Amino acid sequence: MHAEDSVAPEPERLPDNSRTSEEGAGWACGRPGSFTELMPDDDVPGFSWRRPAVLWRSRNDVVARLFGDPSNALRRRCVAALAERGAPAAFTVHKSETEFSFILMGDTGEGDRSQYAVVPPLLHAGEGTDFLVVASDVIYPTGDTGDYENKFFRPYRDYPGPIYAVPGNHDWYDGLRGFLRVFCDLDIDCMPDGWRGALSFVPRLFWRRSGAFSDERLAKIRARYRGGAAQQNLQPGPYWAIDSPALRVIGIDTGITGSIDRDQAAWLREVSAGPKPKLLVTGKPLYVDDQHRPGKIEGESGTVDDIVRDPAHNYVAAIGGDIHNYQRYPMRLDDGRTMQYVVAGGGGAYMHATHVIPKTVGVEEDTFRCYPLRGDSLSRYSQLYGRWLHLPKLFALTPEEATAAVVHRLGIKPGRGYNGHAPSRRARFVAAVLGVPHVKWRRTRYTRLPVRKVPQRFRSELADWDRPPFFKSFLRLDVTGDELRIRTFGVSGCGDHEARPPVEDEFAIPLRRDRSDS
Ligand SMILES: [Fe+2]
Repeated sequence: MHAEDSVAPEPERLPDNSRTSEEGAGWACGRPGSFTELMPDDDVPGFSWRRPAVLWRSRNDVVARLFGDPSNALRRRCVAALAERGAPAAFTVHKSETEFSFILMGDTGEGDRSQYAVVPPLLHAGEGTDFLVVASDVIYPTGDTGDYENKFFRPYRDYPGPIYAVPGNHDWYDGLRGFLRVFCDLDIDCMPDGWRGALSFVPRLFWRRSGAFSDERLAKIRARYRGGAAQQNLQPGPYWAIDSPALRVIGIDTGITGSIDRDQAAWLREVSAGPKPKLLVTGKPLYVDDQHRPGKIEGESGTVDDIVRDPAHNYVAAIGGDIHNYQRYPMRLDDGRTMQYVVAGGGGAYMHATHVIPKTVGVEEDTFRCYPLRGDSLSRYSQLYGRWLHLPKLFALTPEEATAAVVHRLGIKPGRGYNGHAPSRRARFVAAVLGVPHVKWRRTRYTRLPVRKVPQRFRSELADWDRPPFFKSFLRLDVTGDELRIRTFGVSGCGDHEARPPVEDEFAIPLRRDRSDS
């Protein structure tokens, strides 16, 4: 052995993550997290999607789907008002630093334990970052200004830098009014042109508008929680670009149903031009659950993903919220480039199941990443169903039992060192009932059992829980001039993970620097 070998420092051992152990996933909490100290004492009622009032407040989703999504028309009016006021050219913020870092996470604002659990790990892992980006659904259920105190300002009071955001469908449920007030300092009701025609009074009647909230109160809340000079920023609009010498980060507003208006599309093409590497941040992911959802553009057959995949635009990744977990698809494009399609909706709200994702065909299953692992997702849901149906002995699966069932039904390899034992009949039954697709019927999500008739949307939304492991996540992105490095941190809610959250995924994207494109 050479002398220098014997004195080489031991590489720092990374903490376990969900891919290495059950402890890493947070199934065995050594001590509870300290995040509860950050929560308000009394004024956040337990948030629950089961409350009829919450569902009623979210009715604009139904109105938009039945009568047409008015967000494109509303956005045009709002953006015109912003431009009139003097928004920066091309809705772009310029940064002179070649090297910078930021945090990105989606679907944050329920104001409950699963949102606050993200905060301590975020402050630790986000140390030294320049800003934070929230990708969709800043505030649940309806984006109201009055909800920003406990679902935005209070939880992120100690994040020292500015926060940018793109709205999600829930932020649109008050016509985007709260979002524009907080992020753009614009208070305007953009409603009047939402619908046209003889029956337009019907959606107008049901469309929910935001409640009153005084400017003084908002200013007070802002000053109380995020009053530091470095925390202040106004973003140009609901869509924006942050341009740096090495990378342009472009955020788009996908409204309620996921399309963008033609003016925004024209702007997107403009800021996408040139060879500078680009990263898209969107309210709706372009590739999710192993399905391509390219993103419609108002009045044309082209899609958002067409713009993203155009080699002349040099996008390297597209990251979207909306689905409340983490997924990554490193997709090989026809021209030989790799596009990183990422779902990053684990920032705080209830968890969407990952065990409904089939063995991937869009990318090799070996290169696909998700958090929580499908086995953990099934285990969590099986426990919840056992509790709701008062049948814990029938339903509840341990992570190992659930993983065995997932492996069996999907035809994938077991993770986390489990030995690949055949699943019990009970585990196979629970997996089938709770939506794990069978390898032979890849796209079949529902069996003939009645419980499978319950749409996934409701199964997940009713599955909010308040105890670790929460399986939340956020991304740290470091731009070093030549490279964009992305790390995905898992959030279990366990005290042991708060100071050193587990790294659930890590990858680097080379950035070709081209100084002629400034
Ligand atoms: Fe969401």
